Amino acid sequence: MPVPAPPVPTCDVYSPEAADDPVAMLRGIRAESPVSWMPDLNSYLLTRHADIVAALREPRFISGNLTQGLDRLSPAEVAELSPMRESLERWMGHTNDVDHVRFQQLLKRYFTPAMVNGLRPRVRELTTELLDAVAPLGRMDVVADLAYPLPANVIAEMLGMPTSHREQLQAWSRDITAVFTIADVDNLRAGQRSILEMEEYLRPILADRRAEPRDDLLSMFAAAESRGAVSEAEAVANCVLLLFAGHETTANLIANGLVLLLENPDQLALLRERPDLVPSAVEEMLRLEGPASVISRVAEEEVEVAGHRFQPGERVYLAMNAGNRDPEVFPDPDRFDVTRKPNRHTAFGMGSFYCLGAALARVEADECFRLLLDRLPDLRAGYDRVPWRNVVPLNRRLDTLPVEF
Ligand code: HEM
Repeated sequence: MPVPAPPVPTCDVYSPEAADDPVAMLRGIRAESPVSWMPDLNSYLLTRHADIVAALREPRFISGNLTQGLDRLSPAEVAELSPMRESLERWMGHTNDVDHVRFQQLLKRYFTPAMVNGLRPRVRELTTELLDAVAPLGRMDVVADLAYPLPANVIAEMLGMPTSHREQLQAWSRDITAVFTIADVDNLRAGQRSILEMEEYLRPILADRRAEPRDDLLSMFAAAESRGAVSEAEAVANCVLLLFAGHETTANLIANGLVLLLENPDQLALLRERPDLVPSAVEEMLRLEGPASVISRVAEEEVEVAGHRFQPGERVYLAMNAGNRDPEVFPDPDRFDVTRKPNRHTAFGMGSFYCLGAALARVEADECFRLLLDRLPDLRAGYDRVPWRNVVPLNRRLDTLPVEF
């Protein structure tokens, strides 16, 4: 007989307080109890750094990121969305152990720090082009004009995508984001449509690379398929994954990071004086406003974390941005300090699912902030209130960020 878990406090992620200020809400939850229950999501929540680290390292917790949107639907809706589910189940990180290692072996070498450092000159060139385009205007929307197109163009070039359909790729990637939030069924349908359209678009390009390989990731996938290391379905699904991850994550880091600088003029001034601190500033941006602020795990067997016994099938959300502000680990945790050391945040995850694109995101953010500081000495906010949009559960993002210079 399983021992019943002790009662834990509940928290309402749809409350006005959560929408108004998720950081404050998480601060309260973290102080009150290591584990909380979110009735609306039928899930537990962890907010303390040590517990989040333990959960990330715990092999009996498997990734729940894929199924969080789908579990709450009717059987008919689940059936309607099964093509999307089948495709997402082929994504690296959603696969079982054996397939996960197979994809890591295939992809990791293209994303090592040494490999992505080689992309620096090109990242600098792309950033310069984007800044040149807005320089005469004296203002820009950081999201649309810089943060989004920069990493999108970098990953598109790494894959070897034709340049002609960049806008379409961006639109597809935006739709796919909904799949990884608590989305309604219409958003999930749009996500499915975009994933399937993207796969259709990729198939003939992969076939071209099979016939005429080039020096890009699409050719690597085509070669792997030819020698039987991956199926065609796996190859296209993982190209979609890389394009999506490359579009939607670093963009948020750049926009969120710039807000932190604009809201903390002393730190902006310090960084202007000491650009050698940019890498440490980027780590601090990841800690305070990391784009993957909530990730999800499901217990595969009974497992005890944070003093709580999770039963098989139970879901737990890890509030990374709460753990990364835990006063037990980070002195003066809500302060943005570009010199902070050590800075053991979990913004890229940990353990076997550690982010494949971490080094790439760091290079992109590093080059982008160096050029921004260098080229725009008079950079200032073009908004009255930071235009955060809340994303349930306990997440927020910027769809726009007007600045002047
Ligand atoms: C600031 C930018 C980024 C952040 C904050 C971020 C965050 C994360 C996190 C937290 C995970 C672990 C998820 C989990 O444990 O369930 C992850 C995994 C992953 N990320 Fe990122 N990511 C970023 C950029 C990128 C980029 C640019 C790419 C690819 C081009 C990428 C590709 C991946 C992949 C493929 C995985 C799965 C790895 C595996 O399961 O082995 N990420 N990311």
